Amino acid sequence: MCGIFGYAGPDVNPEILIEGIKRLEYRGYDSWGLCVASKDRLSLLRRVGRIGGVDATALMLGQKGAAQAGIAHTRWATHGAPTEGNAHPQVDCSGRIAVIHNGIIENQAALRSTLESKGHRFSSETDTEVIPHLIEEFLATEPDFSAAFLAALKLLVGAYGIAAVWAGEPDCVHVARLGSPIVLGVGKNRTLVASDPAPLVAHTRDVIYLDDGEAAILHGDGFETRTLEGAPVSKRVQQIAFSLPDIERGGFPHFMLKEISEQPESIHNAFRGRIVRAEGTAKLGGVDLALLRKAKRCHIVACGTSWNAGMIGKYLLENLARIPTQVTFGAEFRYSHPVIEPDTLVIAISQSGETADTLAGIREAKLQGAETIGICNVVGSTIARECGKGIYIHAGPEIGVASTKAFTSQLVVLSLLAVHMGRMRGLSLRAGLLYLDALEKLPDQARQLLDKKDGIAAIAHRYAGFNNFLYVGRLYEYPTALEGALKLKEISYIHAEGVQAAEMKHGPFALIEPGVPVVLLAAQAEIRDKMMGNAHEIAARQGRIIAVAQEGDEEIAKLAADVIFIPKTLDPLVPILEVIPLQLFAYYVAVARGCDVDKPRNLAKSVTVE
Ligand code: AGP
Repeated sequence: MCGIFGYAGPDVNPEILIEGIKRLEYRGYDSWGLCVASKDRLSLLRRVGRIGGVDATALMLGQKGAAQAGIAHTRWATHGAPTEGNAHPQVDCSGRIAVIHNGIIENQAALRSTLESKGHRFSSETDTEVIPHLIEEFLATEPDFSAAFLAALKLLVGAYGIAAVWAGEPDCVHVARLGSPIVLGVGKNRTLVASDPAPLVAHTRDVIYLDDGEAAILHGDGFETRTLEGAPVSKRVQQIAFSLPDIERGGFPHFMLKEISEQPESIHNAFRGRIVRAEGTAKLGGVDLALLRKAKRCHIVACGTSWNAGMIGKYLLENLARIPTQVTFGAEFRYSHPVIEPDTLVIAISQSGETADTLAGIREAKLQGAETIGICNVVGSTIARECGKGIYIHAGPEIGVASTKAFTSQLVVLSLLAVHMGRMRGLSLRAGLLYLDALEKLPDQARQLLDKKDGIAAIAHRYAGFNNFLYVGRLYEYPTALEGALKLKEISYIHAEGVQAAEMKHGPFALIEPGVPVVLLAAQAEIRDKMMGNAHEIAARQGRIIAVAQEGDEEIAKLAADVIFIPKTLDPLVPILEVIPLQLFAYYVAVARGCDVDKPRNLAKSVTVE
């Protein structure tokens, strides 16, 4: 949550800063701001709403040429409403220290009242504002800005990724990390900082990931990395794996549609090079065999869409590998006193690899001595690094706030893991091969589904005016129903609920009245007749069924107002195909309702606060 971008170098200007935070806008987008430092002067701009800024250049024109460093921020409000006053950068009393921040300062109230008693005047409701005032306070006693910066950080309780500039040293950006990601970009005559690599790739592909408890000073001609105690640390320069076109819309009206459309390739990338036909198993380089062999139970920790993938993962691991598996929301894990036995394997699933709740879960698991593996998309992300071992899903950058291609890639990786662990536990070679064959067919089958997008758009237009939807499924299609409902609610703001089909009779049936749309997921062979029963019960109460069924299931089509057929596959792989029309349906409904599909209200792509 919140995007940080900073630049140290002689050619810094507002356009570069704005371009940088635009590439981070998916992290938060209720307000934004920037600050350019030149000799003895900071120029500040703060705005509410989406990053635009025709006025930015004009306002900062006086700085051009003279500016040597700058910082910019896009905000997802935690403390204080999205107003200009609460936007970042926040400044000290003198207006010579500017700070941008991602995270939450938990002891801000106590710090604020101490600072106020010493005469500091606050002008915002943010927790962030205590930071520049603290630095200002320490500047009076510490030998230099860097020491004052580190001294201030020592008093903060909570999580932060911070970048700061000071008019007294206008060619530097000071940064630090504790709980919120910070990545440095090492360019020629410039050093950059951001909260993820996306805005860096326009300038350099050489990056350094700061770890928690580390800080850095950036200059145009280099950088110094150190611990929060001030001891020097040397860091490894790594290469960003993606390029600029990967993070651009490439002719699509929205990132979400681009990412839905990329699924034939992203699904393929998730299993490419990982299938070992001769042994009917998978090769997962990031996790050692001994670890997978000794696991007696698995505990999956995740949030949101990744949690839905985790639920499907549970069914896969129990069905194919016969390993008892539990799925817990990241935010619950720490507080629910989970039973972690010596042979429990804790699996974190996270697209971004930065979700604070999931990260907290993993830290708790490690504390209890569990082995942890990460299933992440973002290479080098905190969860991936803290787990130590894991499997990247290789979906490529996902920019739309609503997760789409990451979900299907997570499911492919979970399927590979289940086959792999299954083969160690008695899954036959033949069964292993059946799954691998079916996985290899998925990219083409996904393509066939994408070819139906005009038909799905037409269905979506017919339903765009409805305000309540039920999504109903069982077994593998129950978490798929949850995911379909989540997609619809997050981008179109329509109330949608995912229900386990048999549970309808235990309550949710009360919601069925004539005309209520029910998305009925009925593409699994094993329980298809049970779903047929559900279809009859809904039709008898005049619910309006939108069925997703296996190709050729005309019987179910007869009971439905609308039907979307999906190609045949094995039941455990059904969600990978079935979710694609659900994503398209949600997308077209949201577009028809005029919603901002890529940046839905109140949400952010990467939830880095607990
Ligand atoms: C999905 O569309 C979401 N925006 C959200 O639920 C997301 O999946 C969740 O915040 C977890 O994110 P992660 O996968 O990056 O950990």
